[in-house]
Amino acid sequence: MKIIVVGASGLVGQELVPALQKRGHQVVVTGRSEERLRKTFRDGVTCLEWDPASGPLPAGDADAVINLAGEPVAKGRWTAAKKERIRASRVNGTRHVVAGMNAAGADGPKILVQASAIGWYGDTKHNWVHEASPPADDFLAGVCVAWEAEAAKARESGIRAAMVRIGVVLAKEGGAYPLMTRPFRMFVGGSIGMGRGWFSWVHIQDVVGIFVHCVESESARGVYNATSPNPVSNGEFTKVVGKVLRRPTMFPVPPQALRVMLGEFATVVTASQRVRPLRTIGVGYEFQFSTIEPAIRNLEGRAT
Ligand SMILES: NC(=O)c1ccc[n+]([C@@H]2O[C@H](COP(=O)([O-])OP(=O)(O)OC[C@H]3O[C@@H](n4cnc5c(N)ncnc54)[C@H](OP(=O)(O)O)[C@@H]3O)[C@@H](O)[C@H]2O)c1
Repeated sequence: MKIIVVGASGLVGQELVPALQKRGHQVVVTGRSEERLRKTFRDGVTCLEWDPASGPLPAGDADAVINLAGEPVAKGRWTAAKKERIRASRVNGTRHVVAGMNAAGADGPKILVQASAIGWYGDTKHNWVHEASPPADDFLAGVCVAWEAEAAKARESGIRAAMVRIGVVLAKEGGAYPLMTRPFRMFVGGSIGMGRGWFSWVHIQDVVGIFVHCVESESARGVYNATSPNPVSNGEFTKVVGKVLRRPTMFPVPPQALRVMLGEFATVVTASQRVRPLRTIGVGYEFQFSTIEPAIRNLEGRAT
């Protein structure tokens, strides 16, 4: 297939693009800077400079589009302007992706795989949630609802649309994992508060696997959670990181300190999310990392 990956230069795209190539797909990567794309990807991909804010995606004769673009949620303080960039880059950007797919007509892409986030569910405390659970009513949930609604409009023109609600991606380089483990590496690691909050993590290889499944499987449509089947408490995560890295874990981070350091974004870091990938398991997707210790050992290059 010829697949356009929008927002390809980020954490997920950098792993997904070579995986798609390995499976024999022809990949077009888009980003707001052609120079950044060329630095990120070696030969074998076509680079297309395109800003999701600029108007319809030039979708051409591609078979599928995977949309990963969005202003980073975890970088920088949540000022009013930052929150608007988080929302607009996703909602308007997705509208332009779908408009481009529609404009391409009969020769254009017939498959959309859209990134979304478990921010949809908000703070679930100790309750399990899954793909059919209703959205929360906070800022990120509102963004996810509007984001997915734009992608779902693709169905009106017969496009097969699948949304991947991604959990906290664990990858060696980039994203949350290096930040979360930095205190441990400096011998001052510990849980957040009492460590009772739930943490719905997913190994980067499984995020890639779920996107590949959604593109390639004719029957994939609707929402799929990209979270491991076994979320852990923050205390359990802390214990496992300490064990694998062989570092102490007795320095808890008070949630109040995070609020001072991070502002409103601290609500995301301290939220408890217990998400089950019910539909993802239901379609027979087999997780490469379904429990936390092997996932962390893999990232750290340490055998069991
Ligand atoms: N990583 C996670 O833990 C996680 C968790 C839940 C959901 N997600 C979602 O999954 C998607 C992919 O995740 P990721 O970690 O790969 O994302 P990422 O690295 O933060 O960003 C993906 C791409 O979005 C583009 N981008 C950044 N700011 C933008 C803006 N203001 N307007 C338009 N494009 C912008 C960038 O491409 P250019 O700069 O090249 O244009 C970037 O490479 C994102 O939408 C993210 O919200 C990720």
